Amino acid sequence: MRIERIAVIGGGTMGNGIAHVFAQAGRRVTLVDTNQDLLEKALGLIFKNLDRQVKKEVISLGEKEAAVSRISTTTSMEEAGAEAQLIVEAVPEEVGIKEKIFRVLDEAAPEDTILASNTSSISITRIAGFTRRPHKVIGMHFMNPVPVMKLVEVIRGLATDDATTETVMTLSRELGKTPVEVNDFPGFVSNRVLMPMINEAVFALMEGVAEAEAIDTVMKLGMAHPMGPLALADLIGLDVCLGILEVLHRDLGDDRYRPCPLLRKYVAAGWLGRKSGRGFFSYDG
Ligand code: NAI
Repeated sequence: MRIERIAVIGGGTMGNGIAHVFAQAGRRVTLVDTNQDLLEKALGLIFKNLDRQVKKEVISLGEKEAAVSRISTTTSMEEAGAEAQLIVEAVPEEVGIKEKIFRVLDEAAPEDTILASNTSSISITRIAGFTRRPHKVIGMHFMNPVPVMKLVEVIRGLATDDATTETVMTLSRELGKTPVEVNDFPGFVSNRVLMPMINEAVFALMEGVAEAEAIDTVMKLGMAHPMGPLALADLIGLDVCLGILEVLHRDLGDDRYRPCPLLRKYVAAGWLGRKSGRGFFSYDG
């Protein structure tokens, strides 16, 4: 099945990037968020990022305009779901919110529509259990920033069928991405490996092993990481990192995944990283 019509639920950090790459690859996209202001903000970001690609000569002005013309917005999940062949959910990393959304989408969308989640850590098998189509539910885990990063981690739930997996793998390649298929375990591969490293960097900061800048410099110059773990945490969002660590801690039942108290403190203070202007580093302006 060739996928032409896509709905993206949530126009935040990830959702606007996901809508961007689908529209750029010639698909019609309906972006859904809870109010018009958020939708306009998301569209504004998509336009800005497409402009940047034009300036860098990654795409032409005509391609930018064509991509923009393929994106529409609505606050109605039912309306977006009724038309879509694939729905990608990118709302906050809380199982209760995702449950509500998957129940609504399962009712609203045609029975052969694939329901994908961009979740960083919540079990795809569990999300699939909120629907009557678990064989058509899959993880499509894009990386941040979506237009730039090549990887899509494709997560098969226990019941996900081969046809659904193949459709999503093919579509990911058509976006110019490299999909990698993994099984449904807490944190999948990406966050199972990444989050303990970020958490350990926060412990090192809390214990005074070194300043934030020094910790990141060690990892950049010593381990050839393109960015340090604390700057990466700021980019991901400290609330998102905390949410993922809580899932790893609870679902794997091992204290080595316990979130660092300093990370909890920053999130409680509203220091969420780039999106709030302050995290381990400051982002004035
Ligand atoms: P975000 O907080 O930036 O955006 C979430 C968006 O969902 C907001 O615009 C919010 O208004 C909207 N939303 C909330 N409830 C909604 C509803 N009922 N209907 C429609 N829209 C609703 O979150 P972010 O960072 O984009 O994360 C989204 C998902 O992507 C999470 O599951 C996260 O774990 C995952 N993810 C995040 C990455 C990151 O670097 N931030 C990387 C990969 C995955």
